[in-house]
Amino acid sequence: MKKDIEDKNDIVLLVNSFYNAVQENEILGFIFNDVAKINWDEHLPRMYAFWTSMFLNEHHFSGNPMEKHITLSRITSMTEIQFNEWLLLFTTTVDKLFKGEIANEAKFRAGNIARLMLLKIQSV
Ligand code: HEM
Repeated sequence: MKKDIEDKNDIVLLVNSFYNAVQENEILGFIFNDVAKINWDEHLPRMYAFWTSMFLNEHHFSGNPMEKHITLSRITSMTEIQFNEWLLLFTTTVDKLFKGEIANEAKFRAGNIARLMLLKIQSV
């Protein structure tokens, strides 16, 4: 029986599972590994902080996601194709692991942010 997203451990599980899937994904994996060449040991904790600040009222995230993704869109294709794939992977990962109100909110908010990011990218 699946449970809802409740604490930091749940966020860590969600984020780790999501980025494992991202790294293996044909459309998204190379953007992280080859284009942005991100350091996973730094990126994952930033993402734990981002999602815990969203759901668990723990405000440890300070960053500028919009700016980072706009910069990224100048060096690699960041269109509906990439954002739809990102969102599909995110929702599939949430559904595989959790069920409940916060899990639904996570998918809803990720969708809103993804749409907003794409709009911003298209307008610069
Ligand atoms: C096409 C879809 C996406 C791709 C390819 C992508 C890729 C990336 C990459 C490569 C970074 C690291 C950038 C850096 O450190 O310079 C990053 C950071 C980040 N991404 Fe995404 N991303 C996507 C969509 C999203 C969405 C929809 C969200 C939110 C729901 C999100 C949240 C974040 C956050 C919070 C960071 C950290 C920003 C910071 O450190 O200031 N991303 N993303």
